[in-house]
Amino acid sequence: MCRPTHYTIAYEINPWMRLTRQTVQRRAAQQWAQLHRLLTRLGSSVRLLRPVAGWPDLVFTANAGLVAGGTFIRSNFRYPERQGEEPVVERHFRARGYRVVTLPRGCNFEGEGDALWIGSTLLLGFRFRSDAATHERLSRVLEREVLPVELVDKRFYHLDTCFCPLSTTSALWHPKAFDRYGRKVIERTVAEPIAVTGLDARRFCCNTIVVGRHLVMPRGVSRPLRHRLADGGWVIHEVDLSEFLKAGGAAKCLVLRLA
Ligand code: ARG
Repeated sequence: MCRPTHYTIAYEINPWMRLTRQTVQRRAAQQWAQLHRLLTRLGSSVRLLRPVAGWPDLVFTANAGLVAGGTFIRSNFRYPERQGEEPVVERHFRARGYRVVTLPRGCNFEGEGDALWIGSTLLLGFRFRSDAATHERLSRVLEREVLPVELVDKRFYHLDTCFCPLSTTSALWHPKAFDRYGRKVIERTVAEPIAVTGLDARRFCCNTIVVGRHLVMPRGVSRPLRHRLADGGWVIHEVDLSEFLKAGGAAKCLVLRLA
């Protein structure tokens, strides 16, 4: 995770961001701290990336890259507004002994924001941020099957805004965020998909962190979804992340899984 010391809305690169809807620094710090505390309480050991002035979206560490064992596949951001984060995270991971893999400049890739495992298959969301062609590179580096799925609604511009693996066989998803072919791929790959409504999706319910049987979700999960998950044996923890929703992010965007 990365403390929101320099977090602000400095540009608009997704439909949620409005320069006129600024963040409240103190509130962002409190919400982030609450998320950090909760994850620690649930038994996660959280490593921190040092915040750097001028890179406000660095807090969304899910976009830094993808960790696979001792390898870190560094992101290539689509927008220049975020490209300055690349050397920052690269230095961080090199200093910690990771083998850092970079992709060719033309291969846009926004890390775990667009790349999520379901069992031993990696799903890669593409169109708004990552490129479809990146899936071949990833598959070669990871030596795993990588399935590209196309995103069609710009409000759900990263895969982790509309898809969340819960286990090797189940996942939360918002079907309307995918094209027909992408929906088929997910239905074929995930044995028990749980569809969430537009309302839940717009509240970023798919942007959930899974810690064992615990689900850390942004506040505002609908009753039917809460019941459905509770019936499945999941323990739900809702966190107010309103300051981060202003940038088009929530719980899952604020973390990068290291192991
Ligand atoms: N403002 C950031 C962007 O548009 C938000 C990133 C959210 N991260 C995520 N993994 N969905 O790039």
